[in-house]
Amino acid sequence: MSLDGSIQAQSVRAYFARIAHRYDLANHLLSLGIDVLWRIRAAEIVKRWKPKCILDLATGSGDLARTLRRACPDAFLVGADFCEPMLRVAQPKGLPHLVVADAHQLPFADASFDVVTVAFGLRNMASWSGALAEISRVLVPGGHLLILDFGLPAEPLRTPYRFYLHRILPNLAALLTGERSAYDYLADSIEAFPNGTTMCERLEENGYRETAFVPLLGGVAALYIARRP
Ligand SMILES: C[S@@+](CC[C@H](N)C(=O)[O-])C[C@H]1O[C@@H](n2cnc3c(N)ncnc32)[C@H](O)[C@@H]1O
Repeated sequence: MSLDGSIQAQSVRAYFARIAHRYDLANHLLSLGIDVLWRIRAAEIVKRWKPKCILDLATGSGDLARTLRRACPDAFLVGADFCEPMLRVAQPKGLPHLVVADAHQLPFADASFDVVTVAFGLRNMASWSGALAEISRVLVPGGHLLILDFGLPAEPLRTPYRFYLHRILPNLAALLTGERSAYDYLADSIEAFPNGTTMCERLEENGYRETAFVPLLGGVAALYIARRP
């Protein structure tokens, strides 16, 4: 990872460490609970793949991992994140296999998982290509990747949504978490993250196949699926 990448990784880890204790509350209030429905939708897709071994990368406070555990009770599920304070929030949620790990250098053997999920995580990673290559390495050939992340809706929603994202959300989040800068960063990272077909193209450029996406709430978020060849 470049020096810039490593500085970005350190500041992202520090942001999440500072908001960890309020992360779930802020998520649920700021999304009016819709994030819960998005994770259920993601878990329903994963369930259809009948996975035996799932890695939930950037598992954070463990909400997607817990939803996956309910949807796929027979699968072996590992949650990994590079921010220990976030994993401490995940621990009481009935997740026995939580690992401190950086997505760019995962401590797992090649072809260890048949599904990797990443919810609201890839966007924060210093090198998307580096992380996608590492995910591909730990996936079995034919294994599935599912990404859930924010995006920008099309007009006429885009302009008012941007106003909410840049002007209203950081102030509300500052009240809830005491951390404005983390939510200024959230808005900037959403602006920089590829959307829809562009994201599918990035996945294909990184060697994934059978890519597809499902916009959520008019494009405020999206689910992406892809397969390792
Ligand atoms: C917005 S939270 C998402 C948590 C959870 N997946 C969810 O759905 O709520 C993003 C998480 O990504 C983690 N993260 C960011 N970059 C990472 C990296 N390079 N390796 C591992 N985890 C990373 C952060 O520590 C944080 O817990």
